Parts: sequence; structure tokens; C-alpha cells
Amino acid sequence: MSRKVYIETVGCQMNVLDSEVVIGTLRRQGYTLADSPAQADVILFNTCSVREHAEDKIYSALGRLRSLKRHNPQAVIGVLGCMAQKDQHRIAERAPHVDLIVGPGQLAEVPRLIEEARSSRRLQMAVSLGRAEAGRAEVEASFVSFDPVRDPTMRPTPFQAYVRIQIGCDKFCTYCVVPSTRGPEQSRPPAHILAEARQLVEQGCKEITLLGQTVNSYRFQHGDGRVTRLSDLLAALHDLPGLERLKFVTNFPKDMTDDLLDAVRSLPKVVKYLHVPAQSGCDLVLQRMKRNYTVAFYTDMLARCREKVPGVAISSDFIVGFCGESEESFARTVRLVEQARFKNSYIFKYSERPGTKAAQRYADDVPEEVKKRRNNDLLAVQTEISRQEHRRWIGQRVSILVEGPSKRDQNRFAAASPSDTLQLTGRTMTDHIVVCDGSPRLIGQIIDVDIIDASPFTLFGVVSSAASCDSAGLAGLPEAAAFPRRVPLPVL
Ligand code: SAH
Ligand code: SF4
Ligand code: F3S
Repeated sequence: MSRKVYIETVGCQMNVLDSEVVIGTLRRQGYTLADSPAQADVILFNTCSVREHAEDKIYSALGRLRSLKRHNPQAVIGVLGCMAQKDQHRIAERAPHVDLIVGPGQLAEVPRLIEEARSSRRLQMAVSLGRAEAGRAEVEASFVSFDPVRDPTMRPTPFQAYVRIQIGCDKFCTYCVVPSTRGPEQSRPPAHILAEARQLVEQGCKEITLLGQTVNSYRFQHGDGRVTRLSDLLAALHDLPGLERLKFVTNFPKDMTDDLLDAVRSLPKVVKYLHVPAQSGCDLVLQRMKRNYTVAFYTDMLARCREKVPGVAISSDFIVGFCGESEESFARTVRLVEQARFKNSYIFKYSERPGTKAAQRYADDVPEEVKKRRNNDLLAVQTEISRQEHRRWIGQRVSILVEGPSKRDQNRFAAASPSDTLQLTGRTMTDHIVVCDGSPRLIGQIIDVDIIDASPFTLFGVVSSAASCDSAGLAGLPEAAAFPRRVPLPVL
């Protein structure tokens, strides 16, 4: 009988990709996916440490598994990802029923360590070196990018895929754990990225999203001294026949170079959308965050993006309530949001992370209620701008890649026939979410939609009569039967 694995994922797109490849690898070894921990032989949590809340969620989930482990001592419980790297000993102490602790730089070891845990009944731990534990080269070598052959049935959809182009981060923003949990910034060789993308496209993948913590800092130096930048990579990937859309996240403001913006403008398959987090609109706060730019630099950068790539949509992240953020500092952030007119912003309350520079240097001195209020206030300002920006699309015809049934019709999808009408969702070339009614056959196709209404987060459209139904969409993909997604998306 085949073994069953259950996985829960929190955190960023990199974790979604990590979960996909870990599960894909286990599946090749005969595992099938379980829908709940109770049915599983192996229970994995792919974790995130970026905010305390994300860690708390995992500790409570692990707590709930205590009695399961008592009833089924054979079950293997594993903690993967950033928390495993950051808190290996703390996890072992707080959750002694955990059998496996594997950092994001050691994921290739998961199958072997599951076997070890099963046979030895002892805790198996595989983490990479801390950033100060050895020289750069040695630490780099301990973080191994895990990019095995891809399994389309393990992805949220078979026609979309993430591809890792860079691991780690060297920016060391003072509030952030990522440079320590993911290790030094390392760019993957272009030939590996191209080979993986080619394989994905051959599997029917139409949209590829390139991933890196600071993806636009991608820089690969070849043996002969040549350098491949993100713009070069986009140009090379652009020629893959069958590929329709190329995206990349997340951008660092300082590294938004003109060659990249030129590539975004001139390569038709590259999505006209940039996620470039500002984090704050106050120079003093930015300096304390060690973001290495000023508000003036950021707004100039925005102007350059918009000038070079007409019509580009831009989104941002903000942290409110960072150490020493006064009402005046916060007012500056509000002003930046008002002026910048982002498509949307992700807003987070500052969460002090032990071990970071901010935790060592500055007091977490903004009270929780103030963080909450600033979060709500900034969100309200952004939501009004998002509403206005989305309403500008009313009356326009856009082309969307149909991703699947909307949340509302997710349950109806399994039983739907091609002649049914479902509420579908997809994204435009500027990353706007569109909802429209249509046949489930349209899923996986790029279609034209006329926008008739808009909310702050969604455009509402009708499928244009000119939209072609010739291409087979999802029905033509070999893995159609496996859709909808098999590896659940993150719960955060
Ligand atoms: N590498 C990306 C994303 C990093 S994590 C980047 O640099 O943009 C995603 C977001 O989480 C960050 O952009 C930041 O807004 C937020 N974040 C990171 N550390 C945080 C912390 N300690 N408290 C609150 N939010 C944080
Ligand atoms: Fe964290 Fe800054 Fe690196 Fe982003 S750029 S991952 S916020 S250290
Ligand atoms: Fe979280 Fe690690 Fe991503 S800390 S945001 S899962 S890189």
C-alpha cells in the first residue's frame, strides 16, 4: 500500500514552490496526497518566520498533533522551511513529537530523512549554516537550491508555474529574518533556469513566474566573465514557443535598472506589473530599516517605471509601527501611498523578530493598538486608491489568463460540464484580478473580457464575443484530470 503525505504551507511564493517540489519528489517515490493529517503517514509543515503570527500558527498546529502521534506513533511529523532553519532547537523543545526538522536549504534531504526517522525513531535535523558560522563560500554551499523535475499535477494549476532564479537575500533589512533563514543571495545558472522553463512549457505551462527575494538583483557571472542579468534572462525565456506570459517577483527599489524596464516594455510576453515594496514613506524609518534609499529615490524610481513602461501597474508592501515610527513618520507613509497610486499594497504590522538587527538595536515601541490603527488607516487610504484605479478599467477590453473557478464556484467546479456556466477568475497583463461568467472549458485559456464594473480588488467582466474558444484550454492539457490543485495553497 502506498504511503500518504499531508502538507500545510504558510509564507511566500518560494514556500509554495518548495512544497510543490518536495511533494512532487515524494510522489515519484510512490506517495499519494492525504487530505488531512489523520489519514497521513507523513505530516509536513512548510513554515514561515517573517512575522510572529506565522510561527504561532505552526506551533498551535503542531500542538494539535500531539494526540495523533500518541495514537499513531508510526506517523512522521516534519517541520520544513524558514522556522526549521531559524528555530531548530526551540521546535524540538516545544514539540518533542516532531520527527523531522529541515531548513529551506536542505529540502533535497527530506525523502532520505523520512526513512531515517521511521527506522531510527529519532529526531532528524538538517539545517544550513548560520550566516556567521563560516566563510561566505561555505555558508553558500550549505544552502542548496532544490529544483528537481517538475510534476504538473502538484501545482495549483498545470498551466502556471513558479521558477526559482535566485535563493537567499543579502539586503539585511534590519527587521527581516529572510537573510538568515534563506542564506546568502545566490543566482541560479541561466542554463538551468532555461532547461526547467523549457520542460514546464512542454508540459503545457503558459505562464511562468520567476522567483527571488530581490529578483531584480539577479546576476549570474559566467566562467568567462560574461554576466546574465534579469533582463537577459527575460529575453532568453521570451522565445520559448508555447509560453504566453512571464512574471517576476519581488523587486528591490534600488535595483530597478533601465535595462530591466526596457525589457518589460519591449517583450510582449512580460507582464506589465511590478511589485516593488516601499516599506515606509519616511526617510528616518527607511534609514532605520536599512533599506538604503530615500522616499525621493523611491518616487523617482516609480516615475521612471511609469515613463519607461507606459500603463505599468505597481504594487507595494508597507510595514506600519516599526521602531520609532512617530505619527509624523506615519503621515509621510500615508502621503506616499496617496501620491504613488499603487494598484494594491500589502500592509503589515511590525513584528519584532529575535536575532534581527532591529530587535538588537531598537525598542519595539509602537503600541499594538497604534499599529492596528495605522494598519487600518493606511489600508483605507490604499483601498480608496485601488477602487479608483480599478474603476478606470470599466469600459475597456482586457486579455486574461483564466485560472479557474472563482472562490464562489469552487465547489460547483468538480461536477461541472463544459456546457455549464461558472464564475471564473483570471488575471490581466497588468496583474488585475478579473471575475467573469463562462464555460469551465475556458480555464487555462487566454481570452478577451470586457470590463463592466470594478471593486477595489476585482474587475468584473463579460467574455467578449470575439474571444476565441478554439484552443483547447485546460481540456487539451494532459494533466487536466488532476485539476483543481493538489497541493493546497498557503493558509497565510
Ligand atoms: N523579499 C521581499 C519580501 C520579503 S517578506 C522584499 O524584500 O520585498 C514580505 C514582506 O513582509 C516584506 O516586504 C515586508 O513588508 C514584510 N515583513 C518582513 N519582515 C517583517 C517584520 N519583521 N514585521 C512585519 N512585516 C515584515
Ligand atoms: Fe527581507 Fe529586505 Fe531581503 Fe526583502 S530585501 S527579504 S525585506 S532583507
Ligand atoms: Fe516566510 Fe521564509 Fe518566505 S520567512 S516569507 S517563508 S522566505
